[in-house]
Amino acid sequence: MCGIFGCILKDGNAAPIIHGALKRLEYRGYDSVGEATLYEGKLYIKKDQGKIDEVNKIHNLDDLPGNIGIGHTRWATHGAPLQINAHPHLDCSGQIAVVHNGIIENFSELKQELENIGHVFRSKTDTEVIAHLIEHAWKTNPSLSLAEAILEAIRRLEGSYAIAVISPKEPNKIVCARNESPLVIGVNENSIYCASDIPAFLPLTNKAVIINDGELVTLSLEGYEIKKISDSSLVMRKPKILDWTPEMALKQGYPHFMLKEIHEQPATLRNTLRLQEHYLDLMTTFLDRAHEVFLVACGTSYHACLAASYMFSKLAFLATYPVIASEFVEQHGKSVNIDSTILAVSQSGETADTLAAVNCARQRAATILGLTNVIGSTLTRISRVYIGQQSGPEIGVAATKTFTSQLSVLSQLALRLAKKRGKVSQDEMDFLAEKMEKLPDIVETILQTQEEKVKQIAKKYKDAKTFFFLGRGTSTATAYEGRLKLMEIAYVPAIAFPAGESKHGPISLVEQGFPVIFICPKDGTHKTLIGNIMEMKARGASIITIIEEGDSEIRELADDYVEIPNGVPEVLSPIPYVIPLQLLAYYIAIERGHNPDRPRNLAKSVTVK
Ligand code: F6R
Repeated sequence: MCGIFGCILKDGNAAPIIHGALKRLEYRGYDSVGEATLYEGKLYIKKDQGKIDEVNKIHNLDDLPGNIGIGHTRWATHGAPLQINAHPHLDCSGQIAVVHNGIIENFSELKQELENIGHVFRSKTDTEVIAHLIEHAWKTNPSLSLAEAILEAIRRLEGSYAIAVISPKEPNKIVCARNESPLVIGVNENSIYCASDIPAFLPLTNKAVIINDGELVTLSLEGYEIKKISDSSLVMRKPKILDWTPEMALKQGYPHFMLKEIHEQPATLRNTLRLQEHYLDLMTTFLDRAHEVFLVACGTSYHACLAASYMFSKLAFLATYPVIASEFVEQHGKSVNIDSTILAVSQSGETADTLAAVNCARQRAATILGLTNVIGSTLTRISRVYIGQQSGPEIGVAATKTFTSQLSVLSQLALRLAKKRGKVSQDEMDFLAEKMEKLPDIVETILQTQEEKVKQIAKKYKDAKTFFFLGRGTSTATAYEGRLKLMEIAYVPAIAFPAGESKHGPISLVEQGFPVIFICPKDGTHKTLIGNIMEMKARGASIITIIEEGDSEIRELADDYVEIPNGVPEVLSPIPYVIPLQLLAYYIAIERGHNPDRPRNLAKSVTVK
């Protein structure tokens, strides 16, 4: 997730307006920033790594001439957060400046093709191919307009993008386009804007035009012209009047960031499916060679590791050891060695306990692999290989979208390793890959069809003093995560454990009406889990189940149930099955009058041990 912005003003300098808008988009990314303006037939650019205020202190972003320009605030996906990788990016001639939010999946092939015909790339970004493709289209046919050259270029792109482009060859225009990344236009009598999101221009205008996937827009002081990318046909769309406050706009109409981020998961999961194969393959190779693999993390990220240990074992026949980072040194500090591999999972990449475990393992010459949401974080700097999970910044303190993205990346790794080791047949592989592709849609369906039901369950159980969260197999990790969400934002003490453990102690807590939440995908554990439900029911527990659609056997035993579309393979089940648990925690917090975005005593990134 990055933020893009562009503006054309009848009077005055564009640069301070771009700067202000980028500040309002900083929630979308903040590892680098850049602006480009046009003045008297020349392109002016300032860009650098760092937060907007830091970069502004050094470069004075407002000091760029011209009434037209574009800007970008970055959340690195391809290429580290360095000045050279900051946007805008230019073509070889320095006549085309591009800002981009999204991921170009076929950028390696395009880059190779362009390099073969003499284009010289400066950055490691996927974005730069767009500038060179436009240059190529223009070189091939100089009579094309900027919009036409851009159309030719973007028809070659696979992946997601929202772009804004300026060039001194058409000095009064900004051309922008979108596919699967957000883009909105703001209009005023004396100015026009394009942006990733409404908050960017909300203090400047309340008239907005939402741009749809597959559309290109040309902006000028005369107005805007929307065309379909597929056939260049014109699209007529009038602006809408917004009555949002800036606070509402930032949360896109949701009452809290947490709910917004829960709803972003179909999109973030689509992003994690666009990871560069190269990084996944490299990490798979390290995992394949490893003698012992520790999956090290804290909190929610640890739950992703726990789920991953089932994925690696079931798919790739690789035994891994999930370890809570704060225990790593005590538990394994003496035995970890040159033959050990540590896969550290941390959305922030800065968690002190995780870094301490990694440092202990590094000192003993172990191989360090990292999975994080923040490229440029400490974890990325000390890992031999790292993968950026591409969830975009998460503002709510409770991890939601970063958790499901971690699961998605880890399951992709398990699948690749299984293939490399010849542990799954081609048919099985194709089946799992297809199911993985469908997960974003499945999550979307759950959000559309089950949220109201979860809300009612939250109302019913809001005063419960405690809950059990139970699952078997891979769902044990889902149960742990559901419990953590409820405890941390609704302040309800809860207990999670593998359902088979009930009769070894915890069942003594159960009395009439005690709420027990069961995670029940229809996998190999289904039958045994029914036994566990029966034993709780016999003691008067209220049974809440997350079941597969149409699972009448469990539905009839349950007091309340939430349904997940059927056909999700067991190893992928934590991704959809955790969604109702995130919603449940959110709505119980609301019922109990707590702010889910700011749970007491907690911070987003825990940098102390
Ligand atoms: C819970 C939560 C925390 C983090 C944990 C590790 O919602 O967010 O449990 O998962 O503090 O943080 P990272 O992943 O940044 O290492």
